[in-house]
Amino acid sequence: MKRVLLLLFAILASNICDAYNILVVFTLPGKSHGILGAGIVSHLLNAGHEVTYITPLPLKKASPNLQQIDVSNNFDAIDENMFNMKMILNNEAIFNNPLKMMQFTSDLFEMTVKNPNVVKLLNDTNQRFDVVISEWMFNDAYSGIATVFDCPFIWFSTIEPHWIILSLIDESTNPAYVPDSSSSIVPPFNFQERVTGLFFQLLGTAMKTFYSDGLDENQFQNLIGPYITKRGKVIPGYREVQSNISLVLGNSHVSLGQATRLPQNYKPIAGYHINNEVEPLPDDLKKLLDNAKNGLIYFSLGSNLKSKDLPDELKRGFLKIFRGLKQTVLWKFEDDTVDLPKNVHTVQWAPQRSILAHPNCILFITHGGLLSTTEAVHFGKPIIGIPVFGDQFTNIERAVNKGFAVKVPLSYTMVDELKVAIETVLSNPEYKNRVKELSAIYHDRPVPPGKELVHWVEHVIRTGGAPHLRSPALHVPLYQKFYLDLLALIVAITIVAIKILLRVFKTNKKDLKKKNK
Ligand SMILES: *[C@@H]1O[C@H](CO)[C@@H](O)[C@H](O)[C@H]1NC(C)=O
Ligand SMILES: *[C@@H]1O[C@H](CO)[C@@H](O)[C@H](O)[C@H]1NC(C)=O
Repeated sequence: MKRVLLLLFAILASNICDAYNILVVFTLPGKSHGILGAGIVSHLLNAGHEVTYITPLPLKKASPNLQQIDVSNNFDAIDENMFNMKMILNNEAIFNNPLKMMQFTSDLFEMTVKNPNVVKLLNDTNQRFDVVISEWMFNDAYSGIATVFDCPFIWFSTIEPHWIILSLIDESTNPAYVPDSSSSIVPPFNFQERVTGLFFQLLGTAMKTFYSDGLDENQFQNLIGPYITKRGKVIPGYREVQSNISLVLGNSHVSLGQATRLPQNYKPIAGYHINNEVEPLPDDLKKLLDNAKNGLIYFSLGSNLKSKDLPDELKRGFLKIFRGLKQTVLWKFEDDTVDLPKNVHTVQWAPQRSILAHPNCILFITHGGLLSTTEAVHFGKPIIGIPVFGDQFTNIERAVNKGFAVKVPLSYTMVDELKVAIETVLSNPEYKNRVKELSAIYHDRPVPPGKELVHWVEHVIRTGGAPHLRSPALHVPLYQKFYLDLLALIVAITIVAIKILLRVFKTNKKDLKKKNK
């Protein structure tokens, strides 16, 4: 008995010693970013760590080990019209303008760091953290927060591995066979695709190197620098801060994207935000799904876009198609004033994962947000994609290429196309079979992604920033990677050799002439 108690005590004590103090930073005011941040926080809390969470969407669930720092002011950075459906339909949205997006992420950083709640944290010289985890969103200055606390830094990357995030820890990808994050083309590429990929990657690199890196560096110097000085340290060079990354946790998996070559400190953990046990459906929805003998079609355009902003002709058109179906339709729709056919039900808020998990749910009509396409694969449901902005186009194109989706472009005249798409996916078992196959690949991992997340975060802390995982490529200059010095040497030797040969040749000729005389 005594021994058991001792053992118990030892286990308890070791658990206490291994509780770390972790700062998680997710500043983007968007529902899906909130879900991804909350997922990280909840895994770390469950593992017994203390978490401080900077977020515009504070969690309702309290925990003694969780301190939340509210930056809901960040919502002010979002233009109301950003997500307005009619503006998007009329091509007036800002998403297509990279300069505006850069300005937006710059503003977001400034707003976050100047938020009084964050100032209090940074200003407190007694505050210690074992690691800082931050979402990467086109601004590298967040890594400076770890410099303040003199601790390791981990990026969280929201999307499939892409050249920008990889160039922060290793080197850019090769555009000859790795598509840009905003492109859905599948290798092998043809000549035009390779050249276009190269062009945009070079343009992007130039823009980052000569423009946005400068903005980020200024923000680091002016907004973060004072807190470093306050702690009695010299502000290090920005390059040093920018390249001092221990790990990237990627919201990606090979079943969802393509097999991209990854450095040792990039860990793909897509799906970690989905609990192993799905929450039970509310009674009314459970009854609806249980009774949907011909299957249920779930239709949701996500959390940012409001279906009620759809033009009336589209609403009426959709309802007309749905009325003609023998399946039940569940539509996440914020307007309950419309007359609905018997087989159509609307909900203001939908427990998406619990719906997708139900065996009677047979089709998911979605805008193709990253979480939605991940969840479709997780639960093995084919989709019809109506992409609206940002990465949704790529996500849907990829799903189409992988064979489990049909795409229907958003337009005033999309109703007939949607009808054909529904018939196609429901009558052809290929879509369902393909998504089941991918789902099997997705689930077939040595450990669940949430466990992996916790393991690597702890590993970084335990090994003092995991320097052994870092790629030496980060510190090799371009001319050395391409052996331009060797090339220069070869060219030089060749020139000298040719000169010598020419001289020998000339003197020989002269000699010959002399002899002949
Ligand atoms: C920062 O901390 C110092 C004490 O170290 C205090 O005097 C000052 O008012 C604080 N500033 C802010 C903005 O909280
Ligand atoms: C680099 O990372 C280490 C931990 O891995 C940290 O202690 C150090 O302060 C960081 N240096 C800079 C300049 O950010």
